Amino acid sequence: MFTNCCNSHANGVRNIRYNFIVMVGNNYQQTHNLKRIVLDKLKHKIIDHLNKVASIDLSMYEPVFFEQTILKRLTETNCSGYSDYYELLHKNKIESDLFIKSFQINYTEFFRNDFTFSVLNKLIIPEIISNFNKNNHNEIRVWCAACADGQEAYSIAMLLEEHLKIKQFNYRIFATDQSDTYINTAQKGAYHTSQMGCLSLNRINNWFDKKGEFYVVKNDLKKHIEFSVFDLLNKQFSCPPSSIFGNFDFVFCANLLYYYKPEFRHLILKKTSNSIIKKGYLITSETERETLFEFKFKEVFPHSAIFQKR
Ligand SMILES: C[S@@+](CC[C@H](N)C(=O)[O-])C[C@H]1O[C@@H](n2cnc3c(N)ncnc32)[C@H](O)[C@@H]1O
Repeated sequence: MFTNCCNSHANGVRNIRYNFIVMVGNNYQQTHNLKRIVLDKLKHKIIDHLNKVASIDLSMYEPVFFEQTILKRLTETNCSGYSDYYELLHKNKIESDLFIKSFQINYTEFFRNDFTFSVLNKLIIPEIISNFNKNNHNEIRVWCAACADGQEAYSIAMLLEEHLKIKQFNYRIFATDQSDTYINTAQKGAYHTSQMGCLSLNRINNWFDKKGEFYVVKNDLKKHIEFSVFDLLNKQFSCPPSSIFGNFDFVFCANLLYYYKPEFRHLILKKTSNSIIKKGYLITSETERETLFEFKFKEVFPHSAIFQKR
């Protein structure tokens, strides 16, 4: 009898504790959901505001990337939350410009992604050159579609120049980016000593002149590259107008897809892959390979991030 009584008391306590935990859990979930709804509303208000004042649609960016970007600006401007930041954007045009600019990540390196460049060098370029000779083409045509400060375009040019020592061909690289600031930097081709780590001494000696703390790309390499501003989401053009008709042997479109929502990735992939010749190649970064598989591209060599249309 005493034991039964103790048991039912213990069960009662357990039930109360359980109900309390469920109640706290539900409250937490409700508060969390409410916070999420408020944040999403503010996020849309910010997007609408910038659409009005700067005619830019920031809703195309991946939500996680959008939130990281806004959090960075909140910290840098000492704002306590989205609502404060929304007020600041209203008052301060300079902050609107800074916010928009912070979506343009331009980190890049010479020969970024070693493995991709070595497959390109050992397998893809030799095959393109041998077809070039067979088909009597005018030139090998390359599009570097988000070239940032230019290192990717110059890396491709260096590789092609090394192949030129073995076989004769002409080539042209069309290097584009949505940002005119990056294109200006790329055109200048002056890189600080600290940016040269991924280059062999041989390549540095062959293709750069040292000017103080900087290495400047020689004109012999620059002359093969046409830099221009081009937004891959621009609906008017299917390829850089400077290239006239596209027809590229390969296109680099690396390290930008993951910033965008899937429908915009799709638009970019459609545009870049449509500008490639039959059996041409589309090259991304290793981290973007999954996206290419989703859109049914075929990787030509495992893990290379070099693809062909099926
Ligand atoms: C992280 S960098 C990558 C640079 C280089 N492709 C690499 O892999 O090292 C991304 C670049 O994509 C450019 N970009 C982003 N969206 C673009 C768009 N819609 N059209 C053209 N360029 C874009 C940015 O301006 C930036 O320079």
